[in-house]
Amino acid sequence: MASFNFFFLLYLLLIPTSSCYVQPPENYFISGVISNKGLDFAKDLLIEKGIASIVLLKLPEIENSAQVALVGNAKVVLSDIIIKDIQVNSSAVVVGESGIVIVVSGATVELSMKWKYTVSSWLIPFGISDGGNASVVVEGMQVGLTLNLRNQEGTLKLSLLDHGCYVGDVSIKLDGGAAWLYQLLVDAFEGNIASSVEEAISEKITEGISNLDNFLQTLPNQISLDKTAALNVSFVGNPVLTNSSIAIAINGLFTRTSEILVPQSYKKGYEVSSACGGLPKMIKVSIHENVFKSASLVYFNAGKMQLIIDELPDQALLNTAEWRLIIPQLYKRYPNDDMQINISVSSPPVIQVTYQGIGATVSVDITIDVLQGGEVIPVACISVDVSASCAVEISGNNIAGRLTLQEFSAYLKWSKIGKLHIRLIQSLISSVLKTVVLPYLNLQLKRGLPLPIIDGFGFQNTVILYNHPWISVCSDVWFIEEDYYLIQHSTYLS
Ligand SMILES: *[C@@H]1O[C@H](CO)[C@@H](O)[C@H](O)[C@H]1NC(C)=O
Ligand SMILES: *[C@@H]1O[C@H](CO)[C@@H](O)[C@H](O)[C@H]1NC(C)=O
Ligand SMILES: *[C@@H]1O[C@H](CO)[C@@H](O)[C@H](O)[C@H]1NC(C)=O
Ligand SMILES: *[C@@H]1O[C@H](CO)[C@@H](O)[C@H](O)[C@H]1NC(C)=O
Ligand SMILES: *[C@@H]1O[C@H](CO)[C@@H](O)[C@H](O)[C@H]1NC(C)=O
Repeated sequence: MASFNFFFLLYLLLIPTSSCYVQPPENYFISGVISNKGLDFAKDLLIEKGIASIVLLKLPEIENSAQVALVGNAKVVLSDIIIKDIQVNSSAVVVGESGIVIVVSGATVELSMKWKYTVSSWLIPFGISDGGNASVVVEGMQVGLTLNLRNQEGTLKLSLLDHGCYVGDVSIKLDGGAAWLYQLLVDAFEGNIASSVEEAISEKITEGISNLDNFLQTLPNQISLDKTAALNVSFVGNPVLTNSSIAIAINGLFTRTSEILVPQSYKKGYEVSSACGGLPKMIKVSIHENVFKSASLVYFNAGKMQLIIDELPDQALLNTAEWRLIIPQLYKRYPNDDMQINISVSSPPVIQVTYQGIGATVSVDITIDVLQGGEVIPVACISVDVSASCAVEISGNNIAGRLTLQEFSAYLKWSKIGKLHIRLIQSLISSVLKTVVLPYLNLQLKRGLPLPIIDGFGFQNTVILYNHPWISVCSDVWFIEEDYYLIQHSTYLS
């Protein structure tokens, strides 16, 4: 069978060539690795969607004429040739340095069609004709394709390097018709049917890969998160293909009106691997701590790390009268005035990924304002250094965090109402942090950061690994959406 050479050639593509060894790119802060398990999942999905786009495909009409002993010259037309079903016996995906090979072997294709013949000869001057249905089974079909993924100006370009489809045995079953006709179909049309199926499937592969590529081109370079920040999701460098995984690298930093805030430098030595602590997972997404640092800088520089509290569950606390016994000088100067608390982060929070988790240290200025006659009068300011730990969780397709207060230290920065007792400050700050600041921050963090995953897919059985300065999310992927671009783009050939 011709298929042997064909697949041999496909595999040749995968033999490493030392001249084009791909270095992992630098300057990336998010990486994604798809393991063999993930590739198998993707391959099965591709085949399933590919089959769905081929089933019910109508192949072009086939016409042929042949000289039949005793009958004369017969003109036979096969029409309404429709692919009814495809069953795949086995399939495989193999990744090598220069491409991704997908092979389907031993597939069976069932077709239905209409046959019609007319015979004219000097023996039968008026001619005879007949027609009916036939079913065809094509067995031992092999399909193979080689793909490559490159970075093209920050987006991924998927190209089809090579592909082919080879049909093994064709068996035809006629409903009605004469034995001579059956013999004629087998002899003269087997090749036509085989090549028609091969062409149709090859064409669908080209079309399907082109649709996938178009889809990749539509992925944005930047995800706008809110009015302040965007996440740069440009691909950096070419995907790194190895025999056990495909690794992609994404810039991954927060940006604001194209400001580049974190030095885009990157220490070499990080090995892109799909290892997930011995667990077999489909994908691994790793995030460098600079991603969190860039977020911290963007929001800090945009003046977004400020919170004014003018409402509390116990509103009486925001009136000087409530404090007349504790801070008599405040009540004396501003009797029965409403107050507000201005919490302002004084330097960009420091976020670090360690081997145990994520730690954050934040310095905040907490200013007590008195509201008098429509005027905001700051009366005292307390500086607080807070350290918190952050537990990371996956919510939907976002990576979200939850802060827990570790410790804090506070001192009086300035005061217009005289000295405040340090114990008073401590208990005031402790309750402000626990009841207002952390719940507020946790609410913000709950929204999370979108992980680079294609719409329509979800994470499953996720594990989080800390490996300073990277945090990795190892996960399986499942397909949520029923309708898929390949189906949407399927068309009939004829
Ligand atoms: C399917 O593949 C198995 C081996 O993987 C083989 O034994 C079997 O004959 C194949 N069946 C068909 C219908 O090709
Ligand atoms: C051929 O099949 C069609 C439906 O697929 C049916 O309507 C028609 O009656 C069949 N013709 C013969 C001759 O069996
Ligand atoms: C991948 O290649 C390495 C050597 O480059 C080899 O040691 C390893 O066994 C290969 N793994 C698979 C799954 O083929
Ligand atoms: C986004 O990342 C790419 C790749 O690192 C870089 O070339 C580009 O300048 C970045 N864009 C912004 C707005 O920072
Ligand atoms: C809150 O305090 C910061 C300094 O601590 C100050 O820059 C800012 O203007 C204050 N905001 C309001 C609304 O008073």
